[in-house]
Amino acid sequence: MTKPKIAVVFYTTYGSNQGVAQAAAAAAEAAGAEVRLRRIAETAPEAVVQGQEPWARQLAAMQDIPEVSADDMEWADGYFFSAPTRFGVVASQMRAFIDSLGPLWQKGGMANKTFTATTSAGNLNGGQESTLLSLYTTAMHWGAIIVAPGYADPVKFEDGGNPYGYSMLPGALSETGQKSVAYQAMRLTQMTAKLIG
Ligand SMILES: Cc1cc2nc3c(=O)[nH]c(=O)nc-3n(C[C@H](O)[C@H](O)[C@H](O)COP(=O)(O)O)c2cc1C
Repeated sequence: MTKPKIAVVFYTTYGSNQGVAQAAAAAAEAAGAEVRLRRIAETAPEAVVQGQEPWARQLAAMQDIPEVSADDMEWADGYFFSAPTRFGVVASQMRAFIDSLGPLWQKGGMANKTFTATTSAGNLNGGQESTLLSLYTTAMHWGAIIVAPGYADPVKFEDGGNPYGYSMLPGALSETGQKSVAYQAMRLTQMTAKLIG
């Protein structure tokens, strides 16, 4: 069986979504995928980033992770996206990258590939579901195949129960969070493997 190629693409300001992405990358690899872990480029003005010490510190700490490019999107058979909720939708940094993919979309570069997403938000009901749905709307425009976790594994009854994708309050991943992200990444990898044959 061909090894599925999974791009784990994340944006983070304060670090939560990096933790999710790293857990997803490890789980996809363990499930047999070839993985590229990529971060979304920061688009906020330098003065704004430097004006918030935790933001500046986080950005400096992840310089060794390559920024995602259209080439990574073309390379992958499946995508695991993770980014924070901002006013009920996904962070604009991630949208800016998505909005640079017109030429690749035009040649069907994301079509028939798998897609799943996770998010974080400051409040328990602060827009996690609308954020994930907004990403899935984009995936539909790509002709991608959405691989949501649903309630297809018992962990979904322990992790807060968002069937669209794992969602969390900011901070480090809990033990249950680790399990849920690993399940979602494994499911994505397995579905991708079935698809590419
Ligand atoms: C501009 C801005 C808008 C935000 N909007 C929301 C929101 O609508 N709902 C919510 O619960 N949290 C909101 N938050 C909190 C973020 O979701 C939280 O900081 C993020 O999940 C942390 O993820 P990170 O550690 O990966 O950066 C907002 C934060 C910022 C800075």
